[in-house]
Amino acid sequence: MESLHQSIENHYLKEGLYEDIMNRLKEQNIALTNVKRSDIAGVDEFHVRGAAVSKELANSIDLNRLNVLDVGCGLGGPCRMLADEYNCQTTGIDLSTEYIRTAKKLSELVNLDNKTTFIQGDAAKLPFKDNTFDVVWTQHVQMNIPNKKQFYSEINRVLKTGGHFLFYDILKKGVEEVSYPMPWASKADFSFLFTIEEMNGYLTELGLTKKQTTDQTQAGIDFFDALVARLKEFGPPKIGLNVLMGDTTKPKLMNLLTHLKSKKLELKSGVYKK
Ligand SMILES: C[S@@+](CC[C@H](N)C(=O)[O-])C[C@H]1O[C@@H](n2cnc3c(N)ncnc32)[C@H](O)[C@@H]1O
Repeated sequence: MESLHQSIENHYLKEGLYEDIMNRLKEQNIALTNVKRSDIAGVDEFHVRGAAVSKELANSIDLNRLNVLDVGCGLGGPCRMLADEYNCQTTGIDLSTEYIRTAKKLSELVNLDNKTTFIQGDAAKLPFKDNTFDVVWTQHVQMNIPNKKQFYSEINRVLKTGGHFLFYDILKKGVEEVSYPMPWASKADFSFLFTIEEMNGYLTELGLTKKQTTDQTQAGIDFFDALVARLKEFGPPKIGLNVLMGDTTKPKLMNLLTHLKSKKLELKSGVYKK
């Protein structure tokens, strides 16, 4: 039987992802010698509200020149943004070998490979020494992690005392079942949703102090409503999350939107201090 990690990797797998992105850039007449971060922003931030919400999260503390770990970094867009705009030295770790290969090549493409490092590995077993990072950052990853206690313990372990944990996540609200496919899981077998109260419980137990949480649900709904209207008028973008989700983009996004509207799921961001 397929292991949990294998199922998750297969769920996200898109072979030849970097090459596909390059072809799409060429089709838009973008010179591959002069690609900007903004040219790939539609695909390299795999969460609701993309680059805009990452900027909000980044501005919630003073990140300038800090050493940041992105847990479940995907294609590395947030790492590149933090490196480029805040002079951070960033490290991203992700389970997906193909995403890590793509993240490294995209950083080379936009000349940020000297400030970004990408490692394939498990978020729940971080290959870093205790007290390594000033900031640990994670967006839309914990839904794939069954052992939440281990996930947050590892984050806390590698975070320096006085450092900040920043998150932006999809959380369960209430006890009702959700329908699949969702962007993070095509079926319930590898989806492990929990509530903001449970998250706060794990983080507080570890000794972290809550600085702020922000409800991002309405902003997410507004974003999706605008996206659906754009898709109806113009069709799928050349460089968008459809590159990652292919034919299943529509049912996944519509399920997520429906569940946000019906209050079965919510979006939250927040800051904790060690
Ligand atoms: C929805 S994507 C979000 C990617 C990225 N955080 C972003 O916002 O652009 C979820 C990511 O979590 C990663 N992931 C899931 N389980 C993981 C694990 N156990 N360890 C590391 N990464 C994991 C997936 O491979 C995928 O890249």
